[in-house]
Amino acid sequence: MNDRRNILVTGGAGFIGSHLVRHLVKQYPEYKIINLDKLTYAGNLENLRDIEEAENYRFVKADINDADALDAVFGAEAPDAVFHLAAESHVDRSIEAPLAFIDTNIRGTANLLHICRKHWQTDASTASLQAEKGAVENEKRFIHVSTDEVFGSLGDQGLFDEETRYDPRSPYSASKAASDHLARAWQHTYGMPVIVTNCSNNYGSYQFPEKLIPLMIRNILKGDQQLPVYGQGLNVRDWLLVDDHVSGLVAAFHNGKPGETYCFGGDNEWKNIDLVKKLCEIMDDKLGRARGTSAQQIRFVKDRAGHDLRYAIDAQKAKDELNWMPSQDFESGLRLTVDWYLSNTDWLEAVTSGSYLDYYNRHYTNR
Ligand code: NAD
Ligand code: TYD
Repeated sequence: MNDRRNILVTGGAGFIGSHLVRHLVKQYPEYKIINLDKLTYAGNLENLRDIEEAENYRFVKADINDADALDAVFGAEAPDAVFHLAAESHVDRSIEAPLAFIDTNIRGTANLLHICRKHWQTDASTASLQAEKGAVENEKRFIHVSTDEVFGSLGDQGLFDEETRYDPRSPYSASKAASDHLARAWQHTYGMPVIVTNCSNNYGSYQFPEKLIPLMIRNILKGDQQLPVYGQGLNVRDWLLVDDHVSGLVAAFHNGKPGETYCFGGDNEWKNIDLVKKLCEIMDDKLGRARGTSAQQIRFVKDRAGHDLRYAIDAQKAKDELNWMPSQDFESGLRLTVDWYLSNTDWLEAVTSGSYLDYYNRHYTNR
């Protein structure tokens, strides 16, 4: 591949996107990174303060549903790679207000694929040429970033992998599943050099505190807030540090094959209640509280509607074909994450003021 690349990242002001943008800007000075983000409640330019002046970085505020804005960015920057992360990403919000998920995750993805194809000029003849040659010769890449939730819910046994049948069960996962199908359809029909990735639950710095780990850290820190565990807390998630997801995405970009799917996961399954108790222990230590103090804030609350029982990934294909490995063990990853939130209480306060509090009160009061 050439050294110089113009890379468009959508959703780069969000949790995973900001880690990806920072990594690309810092590690690849020969690449130009264009971050396109609508800045919803979940997008925050504070997440990228440290690199905003970098010469190889540009931010564009735009909605992926805005065809003219996308057209202008493709015209001006001629990106030859896209990492598509822009999405509505929270399951509970998708249960409360699903249509925003349809607009951004489905329609927005189709719009982005459509404009991208126009500029990359792939068409049906590219697709048949590819089929003949068995490979895409151009160096363009569209990395479609998705979730393991598209596969539905596991019982006690088994793991998701690239062959698992789709069975999405929440408005969020159904909208992501639809977007995966659209990305693959553009590959198959128009020869777009698409790679799809499906990753398990991420954790780390800059995660919006509506998601389990930062929400619990925030509430433990406040001391007088409940730690709302849905149902009995027996649901299982497979947690991966966000930096390890980012290294997987970059490996998929550099080493992955168009038309392929790669699953990333942490081999790191936790029942929610055990994870919350672990966080309480870590926070008791960090805050100098007696062991057991923070756990007194735990409350079992009304379960999430349609709550998927268990997610877990077999990431062997990514390990074999992309030479990818998660690097961080969970206990130290969690400690680092807690340290970050404790050192960034201003960030936590800023993102949880305003409309977040309306959501929080609506969602958790009388739950
Ligand atoms: P996030 O909610 O933190 O960030 C999403 C970003 O997209 C925000 O910056 C937001 O402003 C932007 N955005 C939303 N709608 C937009 C629109 N219409 N146009 C342009 N920008 C828009 O999400 P995240 O947790 O960083 O997830 C990023 C991607 O990774 C999503 O596609 C998600 O489905 C996928 N994913 C997330 C996880 C996880 O554990 N968080 C795991 C696997 C896959
Ligand atoms: P979440 O971080 O929302 O990720 P996802 O639903 O996409 O896996 O939730 C992780 C798990 O934690 C999930 O099983 C739901 C549960 N959960 C709670 O028990 N309480 C909460 O307040 C939240 C936000 C999640």
